[in-house]
Amino acid sequence: MPALEQDIFRDQRTRCDHTPAWVALQAHFEATGRHFDVRGAFAADPARYRAFSQEAPHVFADLSRNRIDHATEALLLDLARQCGLEQQRQAMWMGEPINTTEQRAVLHHLLRQPVPPLGGADAAPFIAQAGRDVHRTLQAMLSYADSVRQDARITDIVSIGIGGSGLGPSMAVTALEEHWQAGQRVHFVSNVDGMELGSLLRRLRPESTLFLIASKTFTTAETMVNAHAARDWFLAHGGSTDTNADLPLARHFVALSTNVDAARGFGITTTFGFWDWVGGRFSLWSAIGLPIAIAVGSKMFQQLLAGAHAMDEHFYTAPLEHNLPVRLGLLDIWYRNFHGFSSRCIAPYSHGLRRLSAYLQQLEMESNGKGVDWRGQALPYATSPVVWGEPGTNGQHAFFQMIHQGKDIIPVEFIVLRQGGRDLPEQHSRLVANALAQAQALMLGRDSACGHRHFSGNRPSTVLLLERLNATSLGALLALYEHRVFVSGSLWGINSFDQWGVELGKQLASNLEPRLASGDAQGLDGATAGLLRRLRSGQQQ
Ligand code: F6P
Repeated sequence: MPALEQDIFRDQRTRCDHTPAWVALQAHFEATGRHFDVRGAFAADPARYRAFSQEAPHVFADLSRNRIDHATEALLLDLARQCGLEQQRQAMWMGEPINTTEQRAVLHHLLRQPVPPLGGADAAPFIAQAGRDVHRTLQAMLSYADSVRQDARITDIVSIGIGGSGLGPSMAVTALEEHWQAGQRVHFVSNVDGMELGSLLRRLRPESTLFLIASKTFTTAETMVNAHAARDWFLAHGGSTDTNADLPLARHFVALSTNVDAARGFGITTTFGFWDWVGGRFSLWSAIGLPIAIAVGSKMFQQLLAGAHAMDEHFYTAPLEHNLPVRLGLLDIWYRNFHGFSSRCIAPYSHGLRRLSAYLQQLEMESNGKGVDWRGQALPYATSPVVWGEPGTNGQHAFFQMIHQGKDIIPVEFIVLRQGGRDLPEQHSRLVANALAQAQALMLGRDSACGHRHFSGNRPSTVLLLERLNATSLGALLALYEHRVFVSGSLWGINSFDQWGVELGKQLASNLEPRLASGDAQGLDGATAGLLRRLRSGQQQ
C-alpha cells in the first residue's frame, strides 16, 4: 500500500478519550449511568425488551438487562463515529495494514467468502489474488479431509498446536461432537507438559495415526517439542523417513503452517498453507481448521464458513445502531471505562460449548490486552476485561455465588440454545430454565431483612440465543465475537492484531531451560535463583 494512504489511516484517528462523545459519556455516567437501575428502566419502558434486542444472522441477542438506555447507546454510537470506527472497518476490509506493528493486513474474513472474485469489481488486486489462493487451498484441504475420513486405516488424528493453532479447532470439534466420523477420534495436544502427549501416545498405534502439526510460524517451542517427540515415537515404532517405506513419516505427518520450508525440514511433504494476514487467534477458518474438517467433513466445514460469512455481511453492512458486534463492543467500552467492571463471565448453557471460554480468553485478551495506543503511547484508560467462564449449569454451583452477592459487578453473557442436542432432549428445558432464571435473579434480586439472604439485583447480563448448535450457528457466533473485539479494540485505539506481550516470557524460558540442567544462577534475580537452586537440589532450602 502506498505510504501516503497508510499515514492517513494512522494520523486521522482520534483516540476515544480525545473525543467530545467521551466527555459527554462521562457526564452521562455521572448524571444517570452510575445509579442506573435496570428494573426501573423496565418499569418506565414497556418496549425495553424489543428496543434492546437485536437480530443478527443465526444469533438473537437480548441486551435489555444491561445498564444502558437510549441516551447511552446514542452517545456510544457518537463515540464510534468520532473514533472513525466505520473507516477502520473499511480499512480492514480493503486489506490496509491495520496490524501496524507487524505491517500486516487483517483479512481473516476472506477465508469465509463464498466465491471468488472477492471484494467486488473494485477489489485491490492483492485481495482478488488472496481470494483465489484461499479457494485453491480450501479445496485442497477439504478434499484431503474427506479422504482421511474415508480411510478406514486412520483411527486417530492428533493435532499438535497451541494458542490460536489449538484453541479454535479444539473448541469447534468439541462443539460439533454429534457429527464426528464414526470410528475416528480427533485429539488435541498443546501443552509442553509431557503428560499430555505421553499419555495419548500410549493409546495409539503409528500405522493408524495421523499427526497434524499446526503452527503458523512452525517455530513455537511447545509445538516443536511435541512434534519432535511425536516424530521420535513414530520412528521408534516402525515408522521411517523413507517415503517408499511401509510406514512413511511423510504419509502420517502433515503441516498446517505458513512456513512450508520449516515443515519440509521436519520431513513433512504435505503442508496446507495460509498467509500472514491471518492472525493465530483468527485462524480456525484457514488450514488450521483441518482437524475440524476431518472431524465433521467438508460440507459441515463449509457451513461453518457460511455462518461466519453471514455475520461478516451483517457487520460490514448493517447500520451501526442495528449492528450486533457494534452494540456489544460499545457495551464493553461502557462497562470497562465508565462503570469500571473489570471482568465479563461467559456462561454457555451448552455442554458442546464447554471450550468456548478458553477460546474467547485468547481471542479477547490477547487481542485487546494492550496498554499503548497505535502510536505506542501509554493509555490512561483500561482495555480488555478479564474474560472467563464455565458452562451452565456447572458455573451456578461454583462461582455464581460471587456474581449474585459479591462486591464486584460482573456482567454475564448467557449463551442459550432454543433446541438441544440429540441426547436426552427432555433435559433441555431444565437447562434453558436455569439460564433464564439466573439472568432473572441477577436483575431482580431479592429483598431480605437477613443480609445473608439479600440479593441486591440490578446485575447486568446479556442473552445470546441460537436456534441450535450446529456448524452454521457456531460460525456466526465466533465471527460475532471476532468483530466485537475489533470494535472495542478500534475504539480503544489499540492494535488488536499483535501480541508482543507473550514474547518476553518465551525468551526468558529459553534462557532458563539450560540453567535448570547446569545450575548456573549467575545474573538471575533472587527469587528465580532461589527456586532454581531448590529445583535442582530437590530439598528445602
Ligand atoms: O502465544 C503467542 C502466539 O503467537 C499466539 O498468538 C499464537 O496463536 C500461538 O502463539 C501459536 O503460534 P504458532 O501458530 O505460530 O505456533
